Amino acid sequence: MTLDKTPVEKLTEEQAAEELARLATEIAGHDRRYHAEDAPTISDADYDALKLRNAAIEARFPELIREDSPSKSVGAAPSSAFAQVQHARPMLSLDNVFSDEDVVDFVGSVRRFLNLPADAELVFTAEPKIDGLSMSLRYENRRLVTAATRGDGTTGENVTANIRTISDIPEWLPADAPDVVDVRGEIYMRRDDFLDLQKRMAESGQTFANPRNSAAGSLRQKNPEVTKSRPLKFFAYAWGETSEPLAETQFDAVRRFRDWGFPINERMKRCASLDEMLAQYRAIEADRASLPYDIDGVVYKVDRLDLQERLGFRSRSPRWATAHKFPAEKATTVLKAIDIQVGRTGALTPVARLEPVTVGGVVVVNATLHNEDYIRGIGNDGQPIRGGRDIRVGDTVLIQRAGDVIPQILDIVPEKRPADAKPYEFPHVCPACGSHAVREEGEAVRRCTGGLICPAQAVERLRHFVSRNAMDIEGLGEKQIEFFFNAEDEALRIREPADIFTLKARQQASLTKLENIEGFGAVSVKKLLDAIDARRTVETSRFLFALGIRHIGETNAKRIARHFTSFDAIRAVATEAEIPAGKGDRGNSAWQELNAVNGVGEVVAEAMVEFFNEAHNRDAVDALLREVQPADEEKVGQVETQFSGKTIVFTGSLERMSRDEAKAMAERLGAKTAGSVSKKTDLVVAGPGAGSKLKAATDLGIEVIDEDEWFRRVEG
Ligand code: IVH
Repeated sequence: MTLDKTPVEKLTEEQAAEELARLATEIAGHDRRYHAEDAPTISDADYDALKLRNAAIEARFPELIREDSPSKSVGAAPSSAFAQVQHARPMLSLDNVFSDEDVVDFVGSVRRFLNLPADAELVFTAEPKIDGLSMSLRYENRRLVTAATRGDGTTGENVTANIRTISDIPEWLPADAPDVVDVRGEIYMRRDDFLDLQKRMAESGQTFANPRNSAAGSLRQKNPEVTKSRPLKFFAYAWGETSEPLAETQFDAVRRFRDWGFPINERMKRCASLDEMLAQYRAIEADRASLPYDIDGVVYKVDRLDLQERLGFRSRSPRWATAHKFPAEKATTVLKAIDIQVGRTGALTPVARLEPVTVGGVVVVNATLHNEDYIRGIGNDGQPIRGGRDIRVGDTVLIQRAGDVIPQILDIVPEKRPADAKPYEFPHVCPACGSHAVREEGEAVRRCTGGLICPAQAVERLRHFVSRNAMDIEGLGEKQIEFFFNAEDEALRIREPADIFTLKARQQASLTKLENIEGFGAVSVKKLLDAIDARRTVETSRFLFALGIRHIGETNAKRIARHFTSFDAIRAVATEAEIPAGKGDRGNSAWQELNAVNGVGEVVAEAMVEFFNEAHNRDAVDALLREVQPADEEKVGQVETQFSGKTIVFTGSLERMSRDEAKAMAERLGAKTAGSVSKKTDLVVAGPGAGSKLKAATDLGIEVIDEDEWFRRVEG
């Protein structure tokens, strides 16, 4: 459509109505092609002109504003949340180190893993760690097809439409780029742009705490037009899947990104020694305040990509990189109160309520106090900390905030202690249910013994259940859960996970309507019920993690789900497994199978068995399974090899790689590795100098091979 040239002032009412109808259809079509089909047919400028014309006509004839007016819709982004994107390669995070000694250790661990002598060349890149949010940009046949946030590292949010509005990000790559490449880097906002934006937004009363939040908020907009109006920038520094190798080194790969049109950070440098790395850290730290964007440290990466490959990953982070963080920021303020929070497992955690204070650009009102010993001035090892000074309400306290970590109280200012300040008395009963709170021998935490009757624990379990990395149900925040938990009307009450999914039906069958309750509008109720329905099928790993079983964090949940693929199989194994009675007992076959999951040890296996042994838990899971269908997990990294499920012990010195690298290799092949030889050992790989382990293996009749044979088998 071409724009009608009749000036808006000259339009008759009839003409205006007609044109608004045409514009509604036209703009909706462009929205669909742009967002859903990723195939726009007009330029952004022409699209803007259509929207402006529509707005101008509506301004003159407000009575003609249509139900389906483009001014009412916020683009045609996927229904309520962003669609999910599975990353072709996981998006990992980085380990943090804080001191020069930590960097020495890091370099040492890389050398050890690679079996590199101290004098062999080992180059690292060092570059600023940008305080923004990471982004994966997938190019297929050199065109940007998907942009995804990190999410939980495996699945992110599809923000392609919004990313296309950022001028730093090319839509097309040149001919020399691979057919498939996920370019990764950081979306951020410059400090000056952030301040301007704050001014612009101040009128609407909506502001962000810092450039990072501002970048995140601007990116996660339903309407790409809003994102477009925000000054977002990008640095490319990493990659995911590529159809061909990018380069031989990290440095050259990033330089290729620059050649393709991506901004890269000009402070990235190659460092050939530890001294150079630390010098680069100091140089960047010295310039921190004058850089136009926020950074929170320096990232070191092994430069040679073949070495990166050998080093590989731990569960969440690469062995070949680490973040050297800048020292935490500190401030003093007054401790107004100490509150006790009761966690999912009943742990009583003291939380400091502070006189608000700004630390490194963020207003801090709460800080962690760890546990009762910490408040009393006693460390984890039972020795005095802070010179034995305790922490009292009314004290002036020194707090520290490092990155995203919860701020903590480091110390008090003794001279400022009010004369009437009294030592804090840690409660011996649970503040939520009144049950005894006990501290077991050798434990730092005091736990509520209320178990199932403790409302705080139940609420925390529900909060965990719906949280982002678990079932990810939007619209059920802390306040809402508390409301539903305490609802007097049974039709609204949520006490256990299954209740969330029966809420809609119970509500429909009752006279109380959620939308009549204060704080719940019709729109938010619909959104919530939709969000709940959307999670009636979820990945088994999320489902398992959401149950809140002790020791089953995200990583273990994934490992277990990927091993058994279905929830039924997991449950069957955990129900049948019997915890071995003592040393020498290998447990039944279900127990052994549970233990055969890569990375799962006895502590985790025991927690699984205990959970499913509890009748109440089984009932809760049964009820939940009537509402929710856990989807089978893809078997990942589980290619059957001759080593799958085998327990291997490496002993003696190896020539071609370090013992750690050999172990990592065995684990990639599905084996478990152990530090000592026992009846459970299936294979011993012995190098020169092997001693007692080799003897034990021979005594037990376990197969022993040398390093060459190990490689022959691996390669075979
Ligand atoms: S490399 C496999 N380089 O830090 C490692 N990350 O704490 C990929 N970040 O999620 C990351 N600046 O969002 C890398 N120069 C940089 C970075 C950087 C910021 C972020 C990134 C990552 C997080 C990990």
